[in-house]
Amino acid sequence: MANAKLTVLLTEQQIQNRVKELAAQIDRDFPGDDPIYLVCVLKGAVLFFADLARAIRRPLHMDFIGISSYGKNKSSSGEVKLTKDLDNKIEDCDVVIVEDILDSGITLSYLVHVLQQRQPRSVRIATLLDKPERRVRKVDAAYVGFQIPDAFVVGYGLDYAENYRHLRDVCILEE
Ligand code: IMP
Ligand code: MG
Repeated sequence: MANAKLTVLLTEQQIQNRVKELAAQIDRDFPGDDPIYLVCVLKGAVLFFADLARAIRRPLHMDFIGISSYGKNKSSSGEVKLTKDLDNKIEDCDVVIVEDILDSGITLSYLVHVLQQRQPRSVRIATLLDKPERRVRKVDAAYVGFQIPDAFVVGYGLDYAENYRHLRDVCILEE
């Protein structure tokens, strides 16, 4: 950590403006009164989830799911494991998965597959960041905050070995 260099990629203000736009898009896309089922993918999506949920005006329920992450490495092991399941059933619900970043797509394609088996009415993805260059699985995200270049980023929930999650900006991390 001592020799790490952080360069701001997205400022707090840019992020907050974009989160409001995504929330407005979700409000428009689900005009009914049935609560949508907002699923936070722990832990990286926590800050995005909290801001997005508060910017959405329509009814919603919150739930949390845990997926095994990279650990201390910067690239995916290719293995995905459910470490914490949802508390409630999602049958006939409109599910919106809230994730920090779509990289190889391995995590989200696995998660969508797992949730689809539970007969929800619909499943959509809201991801703050998208690194399209690194995709190995096809994943359609309905709501994308920002497309970013292939760099390792931290802050606003994203970590490197559990560090930097509390930064308000999204920063590129170089060592
Ligand atoms: P994927 O399965 O390769 O799409 O990886 C998605 C997960 O990898 C995200 O939920 C993040 O936890 C992690 N990840 C991917 N890229 C980064 C990054 O640049 N910084 C921090 N975490 C990342
Ligand atoms: Mg994550």
